[in-house]
Amino acid sequence: MTYQFVALTAEQKSELAGIAQRIVAPGKGILAADESVGTMGKRLKNINVENTDENRRFFRQILFTTNGEVADCIGGIIFFHETLYQKTDDGTPFPELVKDKGIVVGVKVDKGVVPLAGTDGESVTQGLDGLAERCAQYKRDGAEFAKWRSVLRITEKAPSTLAIEENAWVLARYASICQQVGASLCCQPALNDHHVYLEGTLLKPNMVTAGHCSTKRYSPEEIGMATVTALRRTVPVAVPGICFLSGGQTEEEASVNLNAINLCPLPKPWKLTFSFGRALQASALMAWSGKDENAELAQEAYSKRAKINSLASKGEYSPSGDTSIAANYSLYTENYTY
Ligand code: 13P
Repeated sequence: MTYQFVALTAEQKSELAGIAQRIVAPGKGILAADESVGTMGKRLKNINVENTDENRRFFRQILFTTNGEVADCIGGIIFFHETLYQKTDDGTPFPELVKDKGIVVGVKVDKGVVPLAGTDGESVTQGLDGLAERCAQYKRDGAEFAKWRSVLRITEKAPSTLAIEENAWVLARYASICQQVGASLCCQPALNDHHVYLEGTLLKPNMVTAGHCSTKRYSPEEIGMATVTALRRTVPVAVPGICFLSGGQTEEEASVNLNAINLCPLPKPWKLTFSFGRALQASALMAWSGKDENAELAQEAYSKRAKINSLASKGEYSPSGDTSIAANYSLYTENYTY
């Protein structure tokens, strides 16, 4: 056993674990509203809305000012840098507004992916330079957790050992830096080497679904079993929660599959919940369509998906057979970049 240098005090550990627990409290998950300016532009283009600061602010204001039961369904919201410094029409900073609803404010801290030379189109995530300073500033500005995304490409030749190791190492460095100031959303392999406190982390993976080009369809029960089996073989029980991204599934598919994951009969030692971007916002975006007078309709659509996903995170969602265009609209984009 190698010597374990004391990286965090008991107080720091207790704070980190408390933040993670608040985010994945029963029936709660995460709204991932951290789309970069470019990604948000693609979403707005789909509804014929111009990608301006004001339109991005206005749509996020719609989401963050949604009242009622949403606060019982959303434990955390991930912001993009720009959004952390935006305000409501009446001048309330977004982080303050969200915190007042008892929702934990998070921020995406990675700087996107760059090609990993010598691989078949694989990538590594950048953003470690200056990360400690950025995290400290974000903490002062209201954020209590951070998110970092790594992408592994799956083909006949990928992922390579190089891509797996590089991404695991970078994720662990990110997590250890963030834990000096807040909790983190991250991934496992190198975390022990970096003295990362697992109880203060949340894992944000894809569900195990068929590849987009696969012609074989799998039932939600099969997806639930494959997902829980993979997680049981790899994720320590010390990790309090696993918050799935929706990854291009329709809103309804993502909810039904999350529900099936929670109904999987295998023992599940972690909270299994959502950290959806597209699958929590798609019908709200369509309902809004850039028109101020549709703000309430957009809030209703967001509320509806939040409640459904809250139920799914407890295995209590009875699919309504929602056949609305919005809930079943394909959210898949080839080679999607966040
Ligand atoms: P999707 O649910 O759209 O895959 O996104 C989740 C996410 O991490 C966005 O930052």
